[in-house]
Amino acid sequence: MQSDSGLSRWLKVPLLYNVFQAAVGGNAGRRRIVQNHVRAKAGDKVIDIGCGPAQALQCLPDVQYVGFDINPDYIAAAKRTYGSKGTFVVGDTHSLRGDLRFKNADIVTAVSVLHHLDDEDAADCIQFAYDALKNGGRFVSHDPCWVPNHGAFSKYIMSHDRGRNIRTEQQYRELAEKVFRNVKASVDTKPMRIPYVTVVLECEK
Ligand SMILES: C[S@@+](CC[C@H](N)C(=O)[O-])C[C@H]1O[C@@H](n2cnc3c(N)ncnc32)[C@H](O)[C@@H]1O
Repeated sequence: MQSDSGLSRWLKVPLLYNVFQAAVGGNAGRRRIVQNHVRAKAGDKVIDIGCGPAQALQCLPDVQYVGFDINPDYIAAAKRTYGSKGTFVVGDTHSLRGDLRFKNADIVTAVSVLHHLDDEDAADCIQFAYDALKNGGRFVSHDPCWVPNHGAFSKYIMSHDRGRNIRTEQQYRELAEKVFRNVKASVDTKPMRIPYVTVVLECEK
């Protein structure tokens, strides 16, 4: 579920989303996640759940990229910007289940997506990622997370995030461990220019 008031509504516009991400350091953060955790190689098949305007493509090598998002405006922007560099599809993990384009992946990513989903949809998203992966493939997620003694300023900013389901590291981990046996979590307390705390999960099939 997403909040739909104020800034949140404007961020659904692809250009404003891209400008906002650049301003708060989100693009640099995404680049670090792709380099340090996604670690895709040229030729890999990468499925990007909740891809937004597909800015991850700016940081990936020459991969076989398939992204999907529920926001048709983001998918239209991804097609305009990246054309044949990827396949961009409107949908979610329910509507696209069984679609053969979302199988046999080396890596599945969900960057800043799980905190938009309630526990039931997040579990479905993680199961979708598992089913889409080859054996030995990896699912990488990235989301804001609550930590003990969370700073007041960062707590205030994060409580205004569009995603209404920010969890603790342990809660994200428990969701992933229902599906994946091997789950590694890395918390970052300075991921962006604004006070924020995030966690990356790396899950191996
Ligand atoms: C914070 S944005 C992140 C976009 C992109 N991953 C990035 O790194 O810029 C969260 C995205 O998740 C998408 N989203 C939310 N719920 C979704 C769902 N159920 N299925 C697919 N995408 C979803 C939103 O439309 C939005 O593009």
